[in-house]
Amino acid sequence: MCGIFGCILKNGNAAPVIHEALKRLEYRGYDSVGEATIHNGKLYIKKDQGKIDEVHKTRNLDDLPGSLGIGHTRWATHGAPLEVNAHPHVDCSGQIALVHNGIIENFSELKLELEGLGHVFKSRTDTEVIVHLIEQVLKNNPSLGLADAVLEATKRLDGSYAIAVISTKEPNKIICARHESPLVVGVNENAIYCASDIPAFLPLTNKAVIINDGELVTLSLEGYEIKKITDASLVLREPKIIDWTPEMAVKQGYPHFMLKEIHEQPETLRNTLRLQEHYLDLMATFLDRAREVFLVACGTSYHACLAASYMFSKLAFLATYPVIASEFVEQHGKSVNIDSTILAVSQSGETADTLAAVNCARQRAATVLGLTNVIGSTLTRVSRVYVGQQSGPEIGVAATKTFSSQLSVLAQLALRLAKKRGKVSQDEMDFLAEKLEKLPDTVETIIQTQEEKVKQIAKKYKDAKTFFFLGRGISTATAYEGRLKLMEIAYVPAIAFPAGESKHGPISLVEQGFPVVFVCPKDETHKILIGNIMEMKARGASIIAVIEEGDEEIKKLADDYIEVPKGIPEVLSPIPFVIPLQLLAYYMAVERGHNPDMPRNLAKSVTVK
Ligand code: AGP
Repeated sequence: MCGIFGCILKNGNAAPVIHEALKRLEYRGYDSVGEATIHNGKLYIKKDQGKIDEVHKTRNLDDLPGSLGIGHTRWATHGAPLEVNAHPHVDCSGQIALVHNGIIENFSELKLELEGLGHVFKSRTDTEVIVHLIEQVLKNNPSLGLADAVLEATKRLDGSYAIAVISTKEPNKIICARHESPLVVGVNENAIYCASDIPAFLPLTNKAVIINDGELVTLSLEGYEIKKITDASLVLREPKIIDWTPEMAVKQGYPHFMLKEIHEQPETLRNTLRLQEHYLDLMATFLDRAREVFLVACGTSYHACLAASYMFSKLAFLATYPVIASEFVEQHGKSVNIDSTILAVSQSGETADTLAAVNCARQRAATVLGLTNVIGSTLTRVSRVYVGQQSGPEIGVAATKTFSSQLSVLAQLALRLAKKRGKVSQDEMDFLAEKLEKLPDTVETIIQTQEEKVKQIAKKYKDAKTFFFLGRGISTATAYEGRLKLMEIAYVPAIAFPAGESKHGPISLVEQGFPVVFVCPKDETHKILIGNIMEMKARGASIIAVIEEGDEEIKKLADDYIEVPKGIPEVLSPIPFVIPLQLLAYYMAVERGHNPDMPRNLAKSVTVK
């Protein structure tokens, strides 16, 4: 997730306006920043890796001439955070500049095609193919205007994009286009703006025009013209008045980043399905060759590892050992060796406990693989191979969208490994791959249809003193994650364990009205889980069940239930089944008067051991 911005001013310089707007978009990405303006028929560019304030200090982002320009604040997905990979990117002639938010899935083949036509690429990004594609369209059709060239070029793109393009050949226009990535236009009597998000220009105007998927818009001081990319037909759309405060706008109208990020999961899961396949294949090869595989992480990322151990076992017949990072050296420091492989999972890529485990493994010549959300983080530098999960920045301290993305990447990895090992039929592979593709829509359905019910459940149990979270099989990982969420943001003591363990001790805690959350997909554990529910009910527990829709058997037993769409394969079930638990923790925190974004005693990235 990155932030793009562009503006055309009647008077004054565009650069300072762009700089300020990018600051307001910094929550969308902050590992690199850049601006481009046009003045007297010449393109001026400043860009570098680093946060906006750091780059401004060294490069002075306000010092660019011209009243028209574009800017970008980056969250790296393809290409490390380096100056050469920062946006804007330019064509070979140096006359066209472009900024982009999204992921171009077919960039490798486009790049080969364009290099074959003589285009010279400077960066390792997917984005750079777009500006060379526009240049090539203009080479093939010199009579085309910039807008038509952009329109033609976007028809070749697979993936998500919101782009803003300027050219010295048409120095009074900005051309924008979007597919899946957000794009809005702001208008007032002295200027016109384009941005990824309303906060970028809200202090300058509250008149916004939402651009829809598959639309291209031409901006000039005369106004804006929207066209459909498919047939270039004109679209008429009036601006609407935005009544958010700037603070609300940064959260897109949500009261907290955590709720915004829970709701972002359909989009982030779609992006996590756009990974660079060769890195997944390479990682699967290393896993296949390992004598032993440790999945090492902390907190929520550890729960992703726990779920992944079921995926690797059930799909690829590979036994893996999920290990809490702070215990790794003590438990395996002596035995880990050159035949070992460590898959370290860390959203931040900076967690001290995880890095300590990785360093220990590296010192003993083990192979280190990394899964992270932050390209350029320490974990990416110490891993033999890493995969970026492409979730965009997560501002809320509690991990939500990054957890479901980690699960999606790990499921894709397990599927590739299964295929490499010949452990699943092609039909089964196709079935699971199709279900994985559908998960973003499934998650969207859950949020749309169950959020209100979860709110009511949170109201009902807001004063409960403690909770159990129980599951069996892979759902144990989901239960652990639901428990962590509730503890860390609602400050409710909670206990999670495999449901089969109840009678070995914990059930002694249960008394009348004791809330027990069960995670109940209709998998092989369903029948025995009913027995676990009965044993809790017999002791007076209040049963809160996350069930597959239409599960009448458990509906009869539960005091409250939340429904998840049918037909989710067992190995993918943690992704949809965790969503109601994320929402439960969030609404419990709100009911209990806490700020879910900034839970006490916690930090987003734990860089101390
Ligand atoms: C999860 O909600 C917490 N914020 C915390 O447990 C987190 O998952 C853990 O600190 C690991 O962080 P990492 O993924 O950045 O390594």
